[in-house]
Amino acid sequence: MKPLGPIPSGYGVIDGQLAIAGRKATDLVAEAGSTPLFVYSRQHLERRVAELRAAMPERLALHYAVKANPFVPVLQAMAGLVDGFDIASGGELGIVQSAGIDPARISFAGPGKRVDELEAAIVAGATINLESEGESVRALEVGSRLGIAPRLAIRVNPDFDLKGSGMKMGGGAKQFGVDAERVPAMARQVIASGAEWRGFHIFAGSQALDAAAIIETQAQTLHLAARLADESGAALPHCNLGGGFGIPYFPGDAPVDLAAIGSALGEAFAVLPDSLRDTAFCIELGRYLVGESGVYLTRIVDRKLSHGEVFLIVDGGLHHQLAASGNFGTVVRRNYPVAIASRFDAPTEEAASVVGCLCTPLDRLADKAGFPRADVGDLVAVFCAGAYGASASPAQFLGHGPAAEILV
Ligand SMILES: Cc1ncc(COP(=O)(O)O)c(C=O)c1O
Repeated sequence: MKPLGPIPSGYGVIDGQLAIAGRKATDLVAEAGSTPLFVYSRQHLERRVAELRAAMPERLALHYAVKANPFVPVLQAMAGLVDGFDIASGGELGIVQSAGIDPARISFAGPGKRVDELEAAIVAGATINLESEGESVRALEVGSRLGIAPRLAIRVNPDFDLKGSGMKMGGGAKQFGVDAERVPAMARQVIASGAEWRGFHIFAGSQALDAAAIIETQAQTLHLAARLADESGAALPHCNLGGGFGIPYFPGDAPVDLAAIGSALGEAFAVLPDSLRDTAFCIELGRYLVGESGVYLTRIVDRKLSHGEVFLIVDGGLHHQLAASGNFGTVVRRNYPVAIASRFDAPTEEAASVVGCLCTPLDRLADKAGFPRADVGDLVAVFCAGAYGASASPAQFLGHGPAAEILV
């Protein structure tokens, strides 16, 4: 049998079933009307942000990276919890605005922004994290055409990456940001243009579980920000220190040590150089804030034996759970935390593979893992589904369409 990833804390059992926010899985499916279904828990979101705030220095603002989960009720819940929202497209700008969130709280990073996206962001009053000198020219042109001073920051391509991170977004040639040595000249031009200067965005990687690596990256980021501010010859109003806090998905993964990161950052803030003394700092996190709050529920529609192996075939699959299937940035496929939701407290009886309903061998949500005996009609839960599930899976693939989503 292959091991499963660790089930996040905060889930319970009622009548033998998985309970999410105190409600039975079957009741949640009945309320939503169908499977497959993403269930997100407001309690989880609140607890997560509270824990983070308690561990981090008060001076550090908290931004939510919308790409992790742009479901409008989740955004509305986050609006009361975090300080800012980071978006990556004009589409996300529209979604955040439709959630009633003040665009002044939004910053927009991402390569390849179209002119119409720049225009929408400038009209809304969002901060644009410029990814290149060309983008700076286009943003300033849009601003002068509209008679609006755009809010502009520069996304820096740092000379380092976040060690041990699942996705490295700095260090060497990258399509993200502007190489550090070219940033001071660009900053001077942006400031001279009359734009509202918003500072730097420095994002070195994501999905790191090693606190020491995050601490080292934050120290390097502060050092780089101070040097670039000095060389730009202007005060730095704001600095986005990136994020990268990961969550345990796989067997053997352990949660990131928040207290260690918070105390190191507090110590760093206590001895900031003059150029950063009045700077406002934030971090931007996606999966850390929402990942463990979500469960994907899917129903078994067939049970088969093939060459002695049990296959539980569900009505969902990689079209909603690309990451759990092992096809979103992982090199070696390992099992996410998966359970039989309708027999949550039953003992393990057999090895089975949970596979989706797509016509591809890639569609595997659990591989030869230990489960209680489950049959047609039982519900399967995939945990850690609150981030990069619905938002990062090919919902149209093979025509099954998107899953339902609810926040409880
Ligand atoms: C610029 C930027 N911000 C935030 C994130 C969110 O990362 P995570 O969900 O791992 O916190 C990403 C992820 O790729 C990113 O590229």
